[in-house]
Amino acid sequence: MGINCNLTAANIPIIMNLKISSFEEYKQVYQQSVEQPEEFWNGIAENFQWRKKWEKTLEWNFKEPKIEWFKGAKLNITENCLDRHLDTLGNKTAIIWEPNDPNEDHRILTYKQLHDKVCQFANVLKNNNAQKGDRICIYMPMVPELAIAVLACARIGAIHSVVFGGFSAQSIADRIQDASCKLVITADGGFRGAKNIPLKSIIDDALVQCPTVDKVIVLTRTRTPVAMIKGRDVWWEDEVKKVETQGNIPCPAEEMDAEDELFILYTSGSTGKPKGVVHTCAGYMVYTGYTFANVFQYEPGEVFFCTADIGWITGHSYIVYGPLSQGATALMFEGIPTYPNPGRFWDIVEKHRVNILYTAPTAIRSLMSFGTDLLKDKDLSSIKKLGSVGEPINEEAWHWFDENIGHKKCPIVDTWWQTETGGLMISPIANVTKTKPGYATLPLPGVQPVLVDETGKEIEGNGVSGNLCIKFPWPGMIRTTYGDHERCRTAYFATYPGLYFTGDGCLRDDDGYYRITGRVDDVLNVSGHRIGTAEVENAINMHSSVVESAVVGYPHDIKGQGVYAFVVCPEKHINEELTRSDIAMTVARIIGAIAKPDKIQFVTGLPKTRSGKIMRRILRKIAEGETSNLGDTSTLLDPAIVDEIKAGAL
Ligand code: WTA
Repeated sequence: MGINCNLTAANIPIIMNLKISSFEEYKQVYQQSVEQPEEFWNGIAENFQWRKKWEKTLEWNFKEPKIEWFKGAKLNITENCLDRHLDTLGNKTAIIWEPNDPNEDHRILTYKQLHDKVCQFANVLKNNNAQKGDRICIYMPMVPELAIAVLACARIGAIHSVVFGGFSAQSIADRIQDASCKLVITADGGFRGAKNIPLKSIIDDALVQCPTVDKVIVLTRTRTPVAMIKGRDVWWEDEVKKVETQGNIPCPAEEMDAEDELFILYTSGSTGKPKGVVHTCAGYMVYTGYTFANVFQYEPGEVFFCTADIGWITGHSYIVYGPLSQGATALMFEGIPTYPNPGRFWDIVEKHRVNILYTAPTAIRSLMSFGTDLLKDKDLSSIKKLGSVGEPINEEAWHWFDENIGHKKCPIVDTWWQTETGGLMISPIANVTKTKPGYATLPLPGVQPVLVDETGKEIEGNGVSGNLCIKFPWPGMIRTTYGDHERCRTAYFATYPGLYFTGDGCLRDDDGYYRITGRVDDVLNVSGHRIGTAEVENAINMHSSVVESAVVGYPHDIKGQGVYAFVVCPEKHINEELTRSDIAMTVARIIGAIAKPDKIQFVTGLPKTRSGKIMRRILRKIAEGETSNLGDTSTLLDPAIVDEIKAGAL
């Protein structure tokens, strides 16, 4: 095993191969990673480029929590993603960009070109007063400049906070305020399918509430007319020109400490306010690079197509940082799978000879619903490996993907992980781990999952299920929630002391294989996007005719889960249809269109206990279409309300 047989006392090679090549090797490496985690991660980290090596591999406790990896090391992640490849891969493709409109030309950026553009834009940021440690909000369409902006922040040590282009002005304002961002990078607009999203105008609305922002850099994409505010707003293109006239001076990468913050990414939890998940430089780099190389068994020259948006963690880790740190070719797609027709993914695969396709169950189910006719004349022969992420993949979708896209010859890696984990955690390794439909299979080396019961007691053995926790740190894990460390502790480390709690339910079958069964907290997973029920309720309650509401999920054929809202509107004779669409609009305005309820049922009251707690269990059953078996309703303040709600169920 390993290219280097220079063994440490602990029997772990000084450099560990990132890629495992057989199941036997997986078992052996896994064992080592549990018995000697520090030696194991030292061996993995040797594959990266450091300005200065670490003094201590790991310092941790899950009580505060405090997690420090590769302490004392100095590095810059962009040197690993760009500079170190220039000699060997300078003219190789780093990013292939496929536009929303198939008639527009695609773009290719080699490592050299990407490096130069990142340095150039990093200088633009500096010219606009951005410094190490500043928070920068990025709200952009899926164009190469988004990746360039992200990397330019990392280059100068600024902390990026990317906000997905589907979020509303209010959501952006909340995120900008939470992190006191100083600068915003956006575009005039963004193309998504037939839509043209007025990004700059949404930013303008958001910034009314954001006094900390003094500069907005605007990229031209859609040529949508925008209002530029004097002294605040500048055009990307003009700023780049200025740097060019200054003679395109190079931009040396800022030297970062291992535990300096790299980025913040907001995600929903069970309370009303999204949490700013913080990832740091060294651990995140090592973890995303390692998991990318190993799980996808990336071979030089392969084209890797991850269909996620860079606005989500999947895009951060597996379009930008993971693939680029490995010198891979990443394909970035601006549009949506159904535009201009539902054959678009397959056209892209054929056009760019995609070798690895990493997508989400919701996209697979949506494309399945159009039948296989669309696939008839598509050449998918380049595909060698498939991946799935974001939610449990149902067996029907798994088999469809396997048969129609992989032609039963390509492994499917069903990768379980979270914004908080930074990278893949439980997943098959392509062509190494035997797959099983619906199962994320086995933990990757370095990952120690446990199942616990309600009281936090570990459930050992196989053929069991419980709440999924992780009992030992891994380099890519969350360090804190921005500006509120206590929140990080209570959300992830307090439910089961000594463990990181994922919020997911899980079963471990007789073979020891893991199957994620879905969230056990008040978080919905709609089309692979995490949405907190409390957030949606807060938004609905802002509508003037709403007194109270309760939101639950229900099974949805395409989205996985749909949003079902029970809403108390006391006004008599309301025009229900109009009020429904008004409420949906309010949610879109407060959060974004992704959180709009699919169903809104008007009720006169909610099932509550005598202490005033809403019994969501009952609402969940009703939303799922269950009318008998609602469990014990005797503790309700007004049991009759349940019959009324049942009778009106949609
Ligand atoms: C769910 C996305 C089953 C899970 C990377 C998790 C999955 C949440 C899978 C995280 C999978 C993600 N099988 N469920 N392969 N992948 N999930 O933070 O509930 O957007 O907790 O990160 O998605 O969502 P997030």
